[in-house]
Amino acid sequence: MRRVYVVLAGLQLLAVLAQFYFAGVGAFDKPQSGDSYAMHGTIGMMAIPVLSLLATVVATLAKAPGRLIGLSITPLGLVVVQMLIIILGRALDDATGDTTTASLAVLGLHAVNGLGVMAVAGRVLAGARRLASTSETAPKNATAPVS
Ligand code: HEM
Repeated sequence: MRRVYVVLAGLQLLAVLAQFYFAGVGAFDKPQSGDSYAMHGTIGMMAIPVLSLLATVVATLAKAPGRLIGLSITPLGLVVVQMLIIILGRALDDATGDTTTASLAVLGLHAVNGLGVMAVAGRVLAGARRLASTSETAPKNATAPVS
């Protein structure tokens, strides 16, 4: 179970890396269209939340420490924050739908929060690997010493 947790945590970190990559793809796409950020939207709304949820379930089954279980569900929470940043930012656009100083100030936080998702995904993978290595080094039939 702990190895499955490591695999899921690794996939989650890869998905976050892909998320940054596809943000770049969207930014360079010309002309900009509704599809420019299609992959970014799919990974952000599907892959990362599903992997975060699965990793959390597996971490619980693998009897990971509570802090690591909490950290595993954090990417999902931060994706919700990503969407709230976009909703709030767009609400601050002007009447024609163009950005304003206020909306850009809020929308820029989407990139900063993305770094937070990356940092958390990295810490989850490190924690999952540590958990797997402690279970490998622990003696299989460890019992209390008989005096
Ligand atoms: C882990 C990091 C990130 C996550 C989880 C994430 C997640 C999301 C989500 C869920 C959406 C909404 C998609 C939709 O409504 O279809 C979105 C949109 C967007 N993201 Fe990210 N994002 C991340 C990082 C970034 C970064 C680093 C940038 C650029 C610096 C970026 C730029 C954008 C833009 C421009 C949109 C709006 C696309 C549009 O207009 O349809 N994102 N992101």
